[in-house]
Amino acid sequence: MPKPLVIGNWKMNGSLELTSELIHSIESSIDAKISCEVGLCVPFVYIDLARRILTTQQLSIGAQNISAYSGGAYTGEVSAAMLAEFGCRWVLIGHSERRQLFKETDNELVLKLKLAQENDMCAVFCVGETQQERESGKAFSVIERQIKTLLDDDNVCLEKVVFAYEPVWAIGTGLTATPEEAQEVHAFIRDLLRNKIGQSADKIRIIYGGSVKPENAQSLFDQQDINGGLIGGASLDKDAFLSICQNAK
Ligand code: PGA
Repeated sequence: MPKPLVIGNWKMNGSLELTSELIHSIESSIDAKISCEVGLCVPFVYIDLARRILTTQQLSIGAQNISAYSGGAYTGEVSAAMLAEFGCRWVLIGHSERRQLFKETDNELVLKLKLAQENDMCAVFCVGETQQERESGKAFSVIERQIKTLLDDDNVCLEKVVFAYEPVWAIGTGLTATPEEAQEVHAFIRDLLRNKIGQSADKIRIIYGGSVKPENAQSLFDQQDINGGLIGGASLDKDAFLSICQNAK
């Protein structure tokens, strides 16, 4: 079984104060109460402060997005190489907010993922269906389409990708997939990976995101193919986030 992983996704939230407060409290609980690996994907501007105050390797910093270009005249973009230079271990690729609000396409996301890998960062590749897609019975075909672009590209190292299943209808809504619903999709993703790379797929982390809270974390993380969580809203609350991390054993 891969080591469980919990990643906080702050989205466009946070402050200098929250950055240092949250990192100090997570670090003081690591070892004693937290045994999983923990990542924090903070807004770009807080990355440098975060990495300067980090003292343990069990907690690492990530970004929420990278450019699909490696460098040059792309005003406003931040490259994978820059983030690697600032010690980022993780980068979220294809979060549903990026797919929906910023119209990021499957092809663009593969370019981003390959740049992350070329710069030794671990891509957290997010997939998930909308409510309408689930209700019309298309959840599995949508997820398969989202993952297929990676499977079809021989320059992607699948073993180094973390997959995050985030049903769009559960993000920030308070609705959560039941542990059984989530497990069913995680097992489906694992099967897609097994078909491509065989038993190595069993070592890949597939984490769940969508209104994970201290109250539901344990039952989700208990599922066989759920290897941790991607936490939005609750990652901004120190106590809630710590409690979720403690549930990932
Ligand atoms: P949520 O967000 O935990 O607030 O639902 C999860 C995410 O968007 O990664």
